[in-house]
Amino acid sequence: MNKDVIVLSLGGSVVLSDDVDHLFFEEFKEFIQKLSKKFKVFLIIGGGKTARTYIDIGRKQGFSEYELDYLGILSTRLNASFLSTLLSSSNKLIPESVDEAIQITDSIVVMGGTSPGHSTDFVGACIASKTNAKMYIIATNVDGVYDKDPRKHPDAKHLPEVSIDALLDEYGNSWNVAGKNMVIDGPALQQIKDFSIPTFVVDGRNINEVKNIIEEKSFRGTIIKK
Ligand code: UTP
Repeated sequence: MNKDVIVLSLGGSVVLSDDVDHLFFEEFKEFIQKLSKKFKVFLIIGGGKTARTYIDIGRKQGFSEYELDYLGILSTRLNASFLSTLLSSSNKLIPESVDEAIQITDSIVVMGGTSPGHSTDFVGACIASKTNAKMYIIATNVDGVYDKDPRKHPDAKHLPEVSIDALLDEYGNSWNVAGKNMVIDGPALQQIKDFSIPTFVVDGRNINEVKNIIEEKSFRGTIIKK
């Protein structure tokens, strides 16, 4: 029997956050291993601080956007390698493309980025569309989508749900620069729309909220509607 697929995109900002410690990783490990008994789980890991640090210093040296994206990709793979070591029952070699990833038979598949021109949000959306995933969860360092950037605007309003068209209208579907930090990148938004991927945004540091999404309970975060 084929298990349903859950795709979880975990921001590098969650993996390398000052707010998470070894207890988070223990809890995360237990959660994912348990989840993988019922679902096939794809974990797509972002580059976080490591990516941004290399991208910032490389940009000052005049590296091209392609070169900066590539440094970002290597950072995501380093973080993915950390997670795959943590999770005993996952792949150990990090796949470099979506096609390679979906061939892996382990019940947990961990990967980072693939090619320049997008973030890991797009990689997760591609895996979700190709595997016809039950849900695509974007676990980041904010608790959902806001009407404006909550880190800059204290009066920003949290949106429990938002339509994919509203997001595309606001942010567009293109990729601008390496290391751009937005909740969901443009190419991923387009993929979510084109394949009607059931997508949820949640604060990945709060594993209980991720569980609530999977158990189809109410949760603090954002549902992206058609
Ligand atoms: P992330 O996916 O981590 O982007 O990739 P992000 O959204 O900026 O960060 P977090 O993880 O949520 O904090 C980091 C950078 O690596 C390059 C891009 O430059 C991206 O900004 N990248 C990543 C690619 O070019 N292709 C990929 O498939 C993935």
